[in-house]
Amino acid sequence: AVEETLVLVKPDGVARNLTGEILRRIEAKGYSLVDIRLVQPDRSLLAKHYEEHEGKPFYEPLVEFMLSGSIVAIRVAGDRVIEGFRSLAGTTDPTTAAPGTIRGDFGRDWGLKVQQNLVHGSDSPESAARELSLWFK
Ligand code: CMP
Repeated sequence: AVEETLVLVKPDGVARNLTGEILRRIEAKGYSLVDIRLVQPDRSLLAKHYEEHEGKPFYEPLVEFMLSGSIVAIRVAGDRVIEGFRSLAGTTDPTTAAPGTIRGDFGRDWGLKVQQNLVHGSDSPESAARELSLWFK
């Protein structure tokens, strides 16, 4: 079924000029860009976005990292795009993410308290609806 998902190019991806490469992979896979914006999120948006991680050891470093620079938010549509984008992104840890994925090809592990793993993709239809309503008012 055709779905929509939220993709974020995180501050490390924007700073490393990987936005074009990430958009290229999304488009090459056949997904459609529905909306896109460059965002300087505030703490309250990130607290809502990451509410399920509140209290975890990486939560504060994660929010600080996400506040460290611009983010590109993208509304992406396509058949099974929620699962499909997560497959394009690769697993959370960039060191072990498979080559051929965004994180596997470009992600680096700096031994930081949080995985600076270039991209975010919604993990379920419920998350996608919730997150899209936060980033695209
Ligand atoms: P994301 O898909 O945006 O969802 C939560 C983020 O937290 C994740 O990508 C990583 O950036 C980070 N993260 C998740 N699990 C861990 C972990 N065990 N250690 C460090 N960072 C993590």
